[in-house]
Amino acid sequence: MKQATLIIIKPDGLKKSLTGNILTRLSETKLEIVGAKIVKVSRELAEEHYKHLKDKPFFEEVIRYIQGELHDRRKVMALVYWGADAIAKCRQLAGSTNPEEADPTTIRGAYGRITTSGVYENVIHVSANEEEAEREIKLWFQPDEIIVELYPIKEVIIKEKKIRVWA
Ligand code: PPS
Repeated sequence: MKQATLIIIKPDGLKKSLTGNILTRLSETKLEIVGAKIVKVSRELAEEHYKHLKDKPFFEEVIRYIQGELHDRRKVMALVYWGADAIAKCRQLAGSTNPEEADPTTIRGAYGRITTSGVYENVIHVSANEEEAEREIKLWFQPDEIIVELYPIKEVIIKEKKIRVWA
């Protein structure tokens, strides 16, 4: 069954110049990339993405981490992978959430670490399941930024909306 999953290469992955290695590893899945962009993560986006962790003691650090404040690299790469069993395939290559528990041949096992304050710097995020994938993809991407119609789309007319265009 074809599925979509959100992958985020986190600021430590970008700072350590791991983007190429990570994309090469993910290409082993033979999945298709149907959306990709570099994002400067706002506090609002970070909080919404990790809203299920709001009550965890590490919530604030996780927000600072995804915003790049721990690595002085305020950007992430967000990708949508699409194809058969995309979530399981990407999660297997990513390895366990805890980088110390992750198999050393996985992305997190090879490149992740735990900070002295106990936060997982695990280099990439992968959606946990189909429901989360849909929520996260809709949060990070607009329909026109993805080249296939993953979820139902509607057209609306927005009047007097201020947008930035090239001068
Ligand atoms: S949970 O606990 O099952 O609801 O959480 P989960 O969906 O697995 O996601 C947890 C995210 O928080 C990041 N994180 C940590 N989790 C647990 N313990 C510690 N100490 C911790 N530090 C950070 C973890 O990496 C998950 O984020 P993603 O982006 O999915 O890797």
